[in-house]
Amino acid sequence: MMQDPANAVHASQSAQQGEAPAPAIVLEARGLKKTYGSGDRMISVLQDANLSLREGEMVAIVAPSGAGKSTLLHLLAALDTPTSGKVYFASKAIEANQDAAVADFRNRADHRAGELSGGEQQRVAMARALVTGPAVLLADEPTGDLDEQNAWAVFELLERLHRAHRLTSLIATHNTALAARCDRILGLEHGVLRARMAAASRTPGGEAS
Ligand SMILES: Nc1ncnc2c1ncn2[C@@H]1O[C@H](COP(=O)(O)OP(=O)(O)O)[C@@H](O)[C@H]1O
Ligand SMILES: [Mg+2]
Repeated sequence: MMQDPANAVHASQSAQQGEAPAPAIVLEARGLKKTYGSGDRMISVLQDANLSLREGEMVAIVAPSGAGKSTLLHLLAALDTPTSGKVYFASKAIEANQDAAVADFRNRADHRAGELSGGEQQRVAMARALVTGPAVLLADEPTGDLDEQNAWAVFELLERLHRAHRLTSLIATHNTALAARCDRILGLEHGVLRARMAAASRTPGGEAS
């Protein structure tokens, strides 16, 4: 399952030779804010979340329970609308206040973006999510309630599908070992996304002998 070293070498050669342009940004979030409730009962979950997912990337979001991972994934999938800020899919803004546009995108999202939830049916859910040929895969704790062995098996399947279907994938997980297999890791703290450590095979300076 170790495709990463080969890719890493290819990527670093391309960068050195200045040949390959960066892959296109598929999914983007700018200044996403999400507040639930009102008045005394108001809870601000996302403050200023920014994200650019490039074609073919597999990115992990690692953050504790309640940090806002599901909220973010729902906004990215246009299943919910942000309080402010914007989501762009293939460079097109998904307008929060245009019901028709959102409904449109949601319909498209159902077909184009597969969303997985934790539970016992991960493999089935993945197979179903991919039937319609999605460009983006948003996985919300896909290994959440699995034992270690099953978690690895599901994650390996996810990696294989990601490559085979040329997906751009964003995976929310608690599992840092699995996250380390992704191209990069984002943390979500106080409603802001931040780059965490690079995945093992892409560590800056990793090419130094
Ligand atoms: N529909 C909702 N109404 C009110 N509060 C919500 C709603 N959805 C989520 N929250 C709250 O927002 C916070 C973030 O939740 P969530 O996005 O589910 O976090 P995570 O997926 O990281 O565990 C939590 O405090 C949660 O209780
Ligand atoms: Mg969640």
